[in-house]
Amino acid sequence: MGKADTHLHTHYSGYSQLGGAMKFPESVITPEDQVDKMRKLGYDVMAITDHDETAGAFRGEKYARRFDDIELIVGEEVSTADGEIIGLFLNERVPKGLSVEETVDIIRAQDGIVIAPHPFSFHVPGLQEKILELDIDGFETINGGHPDRYSNMFAKKVMDAYPKRWADMAGSDAHSVYTSGTCWTEFEGSTADDFRESILKRTTRAVGKAAPPFGQVQWSAEVVMGGQRLLWQKLKGDLKQTEGDQLAEKILSINRLKAATGLIAGSAYLFPPITCLASTLSLIYLGIGSRRMISKMGERLAGIDKIIRRVDGKEARDVRKGKLQGGDLHSEKVPRPLDGRGLVLRQSPLSRLRQVLLVLAGHWHVEGLGRLVAVLRKSRRNNRRRRVQSGVRRMGGRPEGRRGGGPQGPSLRGAGNRRDPDDSVEGRRCFGR
Ligand SMILES: [Fe+2]
Repeated sequence: MGKADTHLHTHYSGYSQLGGAMKFPESVITPEDQVDKMRKLGYDVMAITDHDETAGAFRGEKYARRFDDIELIVGEEVSTADGEIIGLFLNERVPKGLSVEETVDIIRAQDGIVIAPHPFSFHVPGLQEKILELDIDGFETINGGHPDRYSNMFAKKVMDAYPKRWADMAGSDAHSVYTSGTCWTEFEGSTADDFRESILKRTTRAVGKAAPPFGQVQWSAEVVMGGQRLLWQKLKGDLKQTEGDQLAEKILSINRLKAATGLIAGSAYLFPPITCLASTLSLIYLGIGSRRMISKMGERLAGIDKIIRRVDGKEARDVRKGKLQGGDLHSEKVPRPLDGRGLVLRQSPLSRLRQVLLVLAGHWHVEGLGRLVAVLRKSRRNNRRRRVQSGVRRMGGRPEGRRGGGPQGPSLRGAGNRRDPDDSVEGRRCFGR
């Protein structure tokens, strides 16, 4: 089996903004660093997928061609208006900021493969339920940058619920060599063409796990130190601009005072209490978010199943109308569960208990309503009986056709149970009907 990591970043990924003010580099490592690390880890295939840029991937591909033990695929993690999406096997950069549908069309026009990274993330821009209706080849069920308990676990549940509908993918999302190689995609064969074939046949398998929180701390420290190095180069006048290097461009655009301030502020971040505090706060945030998302998981899975059924129904209608070929249908390309159910929900003990309580509550309501009706009917019968008895007393006898004791005897009670006393001859006579 071949081993591929198709979600790797370099310093061509530019920079991010924290809270709209603080800017920091996404990565400070070079494409060559990533290639060397992947070769060291024994990978057969790798893809550089910088944010909205392919220059680093082309540079990495040129470097990787020197070696026969690894192949590098040119990729890009494109920021669309709906969330991030990865194009693999690209020939040129895909513009950012378009709708995800337009972006997928551009990737397809280049004969590219479309992968949704971290689709169900609650802390970075994932495509969420949008992936269900998109023309994608696969999505990540393991993303190395998601140590939270929810995002990868939920993606895996969706993948497993619809076998072979999508290719099962893993990507380390490594912005640093410290976090490269924690997870990977296994495929049949060992070349980039084999990898592509495996994705199309939906035979890939995601393996590994997210990078530990300590890896994230290492990454942040690496980014800060790398940023400082660039700021220092800028102050010395040694920093050079290369094509597509947004980070160098940004640092070259700031004045010397800002560069010096950044250098000092960066040093403060490297003190252990601050890095530890930052990682602790981020773990607390992820823990709270995961608990909140896990509590709504059953509901969300049921919603996903509804969308899938609607999509399959629409595709079948399109085939009938000739808009699609039968082979384009997901449901015809891949086997669907034979019992017709798209999804098997595994309930948590808490949601099962909730369901039992709801059923019981419903039962109590129905039973309570039944009892109320019975009481009303009984009181109506008693009223009629009382009116019959008072009529008999006024006439000085007892009703005809009655057997047994007097009006309060068992026969009258029995008669009350068997028929309506108002319908009896006595009753009609007593009340002048
Ligand atoms: Fe990424």
